[in-house]
Amino acid sequence: MTPIDRLIIALDLPDTDKAQHIIDRIGEAGRFYKIGYQLMPVGGLDLARRLSAQGKKVFLDFKFHDIGATVERGVVSVCKLGGDFLTVHAEPDVLKGAVAGRGDDKRLKILGVTVLTSLDAAALKKSGIDIDLPDLVLRRAEFAAEAGADGVVASAQEAAAIKARFGDALDIVTPGVRPAGADANDQKRIVTPAAAIQAGADYLVVGRPIVSADNPAAAAAAISAEITV
Ligand code: C5P
Repeated sequence: MTPIDRLIIALDLPDTDKAQHIIDRIGEAGRFYKIGYQLMPVGGLDLARRLSAQGKKVFLDFKFHDIGATVERGVVSVCKLGGDFLTVHAEPDVLKGAVAGRGDDKRLKILGVTVLTSLDAAALKKSGIDIDLPDLVLRRAEFAAEAGADGVVASAQEAAAIKARFGDALDIVTPGVRPAGADANDQKRIVTPAAAIQAGADYLVVGRPIVSADNPAAAAAAISAEITV
């Protein structure tokens, strides 16, 4: 895998025209795009199909969280889109349902969301979750491995511990990445691209630093250049 294959660009944009415009401007500097809630209801699924047909890789960030049977049926339908990554929350029944729904379609990798990178210890405590954040991340990564999922979404700060425990059994996809000097926005646990890869991340998810840049292609290329493996 080259650095550019490890960079997933989050298309957090209000409509598919704006998304397509950014994709066109990024050109060869981007090969992997993430589509989430903002685009999903306004043509994002068609965009996912189009990108996939054009040979780009597609990360469907749907973060499913429901009873196992419902997740399973949902994932059977998602497989028809031709995506590469799909997120579900890293709870045992949710993960098992997703893995069952994916069945033999090994193209679609199931990723368990461990703890959102916008959350910190204080935010977890407020929700009544008293276990230490790194322990919670590892516990949820364990749920993902046990269910036969392909990877996890986790901050770089937890990537090393996940790599140490699970090795290549789980791909680690890391958001909350900011090039040196960039705006953190609402992310609470941020690291630079190089630090994230060094910590064990296999893929980086970067949104605003690229899609809000004056020159998105240059921003994407600069981040790829910071990914040294
Ligand atoms: O703009 P920014 O680089 O912060 O975007 C990060 C992307 O990664 C967003 O689409 C966000 O939803 C997603 N994400 C995250 N934390 C997770 C899982 C996904 O920030 N744990």
